[in-house]
Amino acid sequence: MGGAAAALSQKQLLSYWEAAEEASHKPTSAEVLGPFFRKGAPDQRVLRAAGDPGFPLKVSGRVLNTKGEIVEGAKVDLWHADHGGLYDTKGYKYRAKLSPDAKGVYGVDTVMPGHYADRPAQHIHYLITAPGHKTLITQAYFATDPFYEGNPDKNWNKIAEHRELVLPVKLFEGGATAAQPAHAEITFDIVLEKA
Ligand SMILES: [Fe+2]
Repeated sequence: MGGAAAALSQKQLLSYWEAAEEASHKPTSAEVLGPFFRKGAPDQRVLRAAGDPGFPLKVSGRVLNTKGEIVEGAKVDLWHADHGGLYDTKGYKYRAKLSPDAKGVYGVDTVMPGHYADRPAQHIHYLITAPGHKTLITQAYFATDPFYEGNPDKNWNKIAEHRELVLPVKLFEGGATAAQPAHAEITFDIVLEKA
């Protein structure tokens, strides 16, 4: 063995590996809370009622720490405007406070949020808490949003503060029954920092 290889001890290799792991789970960027948060949303997975206008949307993801491990006891508050760009400021339509499952996964069945004048890009607001971790307030955006004119890489900062929050959108054709409509899906994994 040459001197260079010998100089890299097991301990150093492990620390490099840990650093690489850490870097691959960068804490999710924060964004503004906005004026429409309401406390007390129910833990409900199905936000879309039959006949709701708007394109069906499935949102899911995991709540992880910076090592990529599932965060125990996380609560995921999410809320968004309806198809017409209006928030329910009296009730809890399109609002949920979710407890992720044993695999750290949260998810809702909802509709694609509409646009509204103050913030004319589709988005979902998030507030995530977990014991021993910093509370995170952020938002998810949609790369398919016409607001980005087909080029979110160029136009993301017209509204989002962080490019990585403009998420890829998968589109699915409908199934044979009304229970399987054509829909969009986004995956938004959230990485929390230790408090
Ligand atoms: Fe908003």
